[in-house]
Parts: sequence; structure tokens; C-alpha cells
Amino acid sequence: MGVLIPFFLLFFFFLLLLTHFFFQFWRTKKLSHLISFYRNRNRLLEWFTELVAESPTNTIVVHRLGSRRTIVTANPSNVEYILKTNFFNFPKGKPFTHVLGDFLGNGIFNVDGDRWFSQRKVASHEFSARSLRKFLMYTLAEEVYGRLVPALEGVSYGGSVLDLQEILARFSFNVICKFAMGSGNACSLDPCVPVSSLWRAFDVAAAISARRGAAPLFVIWKVKRLLGVGSERRLKESILEVHTHVMKLIHEKKKKTMKNNEDFLSRLICAGYEDDVVRDMVISFVMAGKDTTSAALTWFFWILSHYPDVEEKILKEAEANEPLNYESLKRLNYLKACLCESMRLFPPVAWDSKHASCDDMLPDGTVVKAGDRVTYFPYGMGRLEALWGLDRFEFRPERWFTGGKWSEVSPYKFPIFQAGPRVCLGKEMAFVQMKYLVVSILKRFKIRLVSTNKPTFVPLLTAHMAGGLKIFISNREKRK
Ligand code: HEM
Repeated sequence: MGVLIPFFLLFFFFLLLLTHFFFQFWRTKKLSHLISFYRNRNRLLEWFTELVAESPTNTIVVHRLGSRRTIVTANPSNVEYILKTNFFNFPKGKPFTHVLGDFLGNGIFNVDGDRWFSQRKVASHEFSARSLRKFLMYTLAEEVYGRLVPALEGVSYGGSVLDLQEILARFSFNVICKFAMGSGNACSLDPCVPVSSLWRAFDVAAAISARRGAAPLFVIWKVKRLLGVGSERRLKESILEVHTHVMKLIHEKKKKTMKNNEDFLSRLICAGYEDDVVRDMVISFVMAGKDTTSAALTWFFWILSHYPDVEEKILKEAEANEPLNYESLKRLNYLKACLCESMRLFPPVAWDSKHASCDDMLPDGTVVKAGDRVTYFPYGMGRLEALWGLDRFEFRPERWFTGGKWSEVSPYKFPIFQAGPRVCLGKEMAFVQMKYLVVSILKRFKIRLVSTNKPTFVPLLTAHMAGGLKIFISNREKRK
């Protein structure tokens, strides 16, 4: 019995310590946050949207046991401060670049500071070239009339169900590969044919890298990487496949005369950049453009199927601006409003984080500590009554016009493409591509949804629709 007394005393002391920590955590709200987080883990997006809407400053601070302090804001003044005013204090930061580093290397998407600045300068210059715009139009025509329209016609005759999300993803991949690299193991648009090995490698690498970022304990993926097992082994194989493919293209292009090559990769080679710099830059562009436009278009077509009158207006605007070219596409403001309205409700990038370098304070008074994750939240912002009014959940393209004229909305209120010095480089290209595709499809086809159920929005690195967008497609009668 005498031997047991010290044991009981130790146990009692341990219990006391545990209770103390429990109340300490409760007092600092960490444990209550943890419990709420666990309860809402399957609806984080909606939960955060409710929380920022309830907060008087539209900003919340999330404390999670074992995670860094996270500030989530839907306040435009804060967004402007983070993305522009004090831009240098809010880089992507090591926690982001570290998880994507194996895949994206030193590509523009994954670097900060001087490395980012020099690539941004080069890429902005190349992107503004007229010849690159011409090449984009040529690529779109080839992909739409050479592949997409025939594929959709095939399905429309057969009357079978089509997953539009899948087709749009394959189409976007083909366009971005051709645009960024001049070629690239294109995917068939026949849904029965498996995706290309390059597509699969990109997809696997992106998905596993994203899962690294969401893992509760970093040490697990690091150990798996060290041992070369499980998902980390698959990641390594996929990265090798992507890198080998792009390097091979670089070497082939270098051997050929580069005169008539207008794709992004050829332009970088001609400008004299090192092979690995070209490789990383091109991979970043494919990643940035691969799923974003298809995500936006999937939700756009879903919404549009509920508004036949809007569809009619889009067609009328397109007919009044024929033939379709870079300049006439830019004039399609009603279609642009429909795309913006659908991205407001279903943004391809639902939230995006930076990491504070130094202590700071946001314009609404939120204190920021060095190392904090600071997240701006386009999904929550698009659903804030304070920003969009009582009818914020309605799809109403007219809200983008004042007095019948296109009215520019602050990019800090609508940061779908980010904003400030690091605003999306492909924004203009994305609108041209989306408009071209929407008009080309609507002119020829009618789309009918298979199910009337509301689909689920899944926010991964890029958002997508759970289960895809199942449709019936039929040929549209010729319009007079
Ligand atoms: C609807 C379509 C698109 C949306 C909503 C979109 C959105 C975004 C967002 C939110 C960012 C910031 C990401 C971050 O820094 O973490 C970004 C960056 C970027 N986007 Fe896009 N994007 C779209 C299409 C494209 C396309 C088609 C391209 C390529 C041609 C592209 C190229 C880029 C690049 C290169 C960056 C990095 C810019 C930098 O860090 O300086 N994007 N985009």
C-alpha cells in the first residue's frame, strides 16, 4: 500500500495540471475555438463566411491548438493594406513556398522578394506583347473548332450525359499548355479517353502539394519524403515527369529555329534565360491557368442554366459584335458582368494567404504578429451584405453597370484575381478565353442540367464542383 501512495500523489498532481491547462486554454478561447473548428470542419467555408459577416470589422482571428495564429479578413480596407499599401510585409512566406517548393521550384507563383520581382518584370513584358495575344487567339480557335466543338457535337448526337467540368478542365489544360509551351501532350476531349500522362502528373503533384499545406503536422510529410514512401513517393514521380517533359521541350525548341514560335516558353528561351529558370516559370504558368478558368466556367454554366433570359442577352450581345476577335471580345461587357457575377458567388480561388514578416496593425485595428497567417477571403466577401447589399445571394449581372455603363468595382472589394503588385498576370487572358468559349458553345448548343440539386463548392487550391457538372447537350437551332 505504501508503494501506491506516491503513485496516487503523482496521478493527482498530473490531473490537477491537466485541469489547469484545460481552463487556461478555455480562458484564452483556444480550446473553444478548437471544438468549434472540429464541429464545423466539413463546412469551413460557410462557417468562416458567417463569422466574418457577424464580426463588426468583418475580420476574425482564429486560434487553433498547434497551428499558427490566422487572421481572416473580408474587409476591403484590410485587403488593400495587405495586397498593396504594406505589400512587402505580407509575402507568401516560407510556410507556403516550402510546401510547393519541390514542384514549383523558383517559379513566379512560389517566390517572394527580388526573385519574384525580376520574374514579374519579365513575364509582364512578355504578356503585353501583341504577338502573344495573336497567338492566344490562334490557339483558342484551334482548340475550340478543332477539338471542343466536334467533341460536343459527338455527345449531342448520342444524347448521353456529359460531365462539363471534366471537358472544361481538359480544354483549359490544352489551351494553357499550348500557350505556355507551344505544345504539350494534349488531352483528348473524348471523356472516354483517359487524360494525358502530363495532365495526370500535374494533377497529382498539385493535389499532394496542397495536402501537404493542409496537413495538421508538417513532420509527417517530411518524414515520408525522407523515406520516399506513400504520397511523397507519388509526388516525386509526378514532379519528375513534369520536369522531364518541360526540359525535353526546352532542348527541342533550342535545336529548332525559334523565329516563328510565339509561345511563352520560346519567348523566354529567346530572351536568354537559363533552362531551369524557363522550366520553373512555365510550370508556374501552367499551374496558374490550368484549373482556374475551368472552375469559373463550370459554375458559370451551372448558374446560367437557371436564367434563360440572361443567356438570350449574352447571345444578342455576341451577335452585335461579330466577328469574334481580341478587340470585339473586349467589348462584351454584359458577358463580362455575368462572368464576374458568377465568380463573385463562386470564386475559383476561395481564399488566399500571406504570412506577416513583422508585427503590424491592419486598418480596422486588428493586431498582426510576425509569422501570423493573414488570409483575404473572396468567397466570404462576395456574400457580405455590407459589400453587395441585401440581394447579395442573387445572380444579377446588372449590378456591374451604372447608368447603363460598365462600372469598375474596386479590386480590393472583389479580389478574385488578387490585386496590387501581385495581381493575376493572366486576368486579361482569362476573360478573353472564357468569353470566347462561352460564345462558341452557346451559339451552337443548348445545355440542360441532369439534376436540379444544388452542387457542392469544394475549395481546394482551386475550387471545383463535387461530382462534376452533369449535363445533356443538344444542337441549337440556327438563330435568325
Ligand atoms: C478565372 C481565371 C483566373 C483566376 C480567378 C485567377 C486568380 C489568381 C489569383 C487569386 C492569383 C494570386 C494567387 C497567389 O498569389 O497565391 C493569381 C496569380 C497568378 N495568375 Fe491567375 N487566375 C486566373 C487565370 C489565370 C491564367 C489563365 C493565367 C495564365 C496565363 C494566370 C496566371 C497567373 C500568374 C502567373 C499568377 C502569379 C502572379 C504573381 O505572383 O505575380 N492566371 N491568379
